[in-house]
Amino acid sequence: MEDVRRVAVLVSGLGSNLQALMDAAADPSYGAEVVLVASDRPDAYGLERARAAGIETAVIRPIGYPDRAAFDEALTGVVAAARPDVVCLAGFMRILGPAFVRAFPARIVNTHPSLLPAFRGAHAVRDALAYGVRVTGCTVHLVDEEVDHGPVLMQAPVAVEDGDDEASLHDRIKREEHRLLPAAVRLVALGRIRLDGRRARLLAGPVSAAAAGPAGTSAVAPAAGPVSAAAAGPAGTSAVAPAAGPIPAAAAGPAGTPAVAPAAGPRPGQASEREPIDGGTP
Ligand code: GRF
Repeated sequence: MEDVRRVAVLVSGLGSNLQALMDAAADPSYGAEVVLVASDRPDAYGLERARAAGIETAVIRPIGYPDRAAFDEALTGVVAAARPDVVCLAGFMRILGPAFVRAFPARIVNTHPSLLPAFRGAHAVRDALAYGVRVTGCTVHLVDEEVDHGPVLMQAPVAVEDGDDEASLHDRIKREEHRLLPAAVRLVALGRIRLDGRRARLLAGPVSAAAAGPAGTSAVAPAAGPVSAAAAGPAGTSAVAPAAGPIPAAAAGPAGTPAVAPAAGPRPGQASEREPIDGGTP
């Protein structure tokens, strides 16, 4: 394979997003491969997934270092040795220090389980439920030196259902993450993203591949414009994320009755919110 881009992935837990990325990359037309999976936790199941796929793994435990800067430096060294075109945070539970972020400028991609800038931090799904929002979702973004703050690449809304608990809602959010993350990582890996201030633009150019998502089929990239989720899945055509479900409407029911709008797709403006992201919160 020629010119296959290199992706290093950091995980702390289950690694379902890593799996989605590895599955997408198994298609040679994806154009990038996972070359390293590193974790701060030796028991992270994501490491097992990587080993099963024959991918190099590394464990860098914070406890082995005198302070955060030393941990950061060690992690930077291990990741840099893999010569990644992109570093992907797929459920990495530590905040990365400035040294790490500066070592891979505009090349670190994180996925966060809320529509940023709402619900930053480590308990985004729980916090969204507690707040009582009718719609939340996920955000895939470039990482900068602030937590959950960096240019947005893609977002997808997920409706909150009556009876949801943190696990059920997070499961549905993850389904969207599994679709968006491989698509976004691929665009960054192929150098298809240009930053215009905080706004991520998709560069025009040929896309050699069927896209990362299950039914992605773009053969030619759209003209330069906002990042599209076209490569992310079957229905992805909007600038942000295709709606995977209904968008709650504030006033669709009788007074005081929270209601969910018919599945007519995202309301203009609502799904096109773009905001910054993070350095690796769950
Ligand atoms: C994802 O929801 C991600 O947004 C968050 O942690 C979760 C990781 O899930 N940061 P997994 O380990 O990929 O299954």
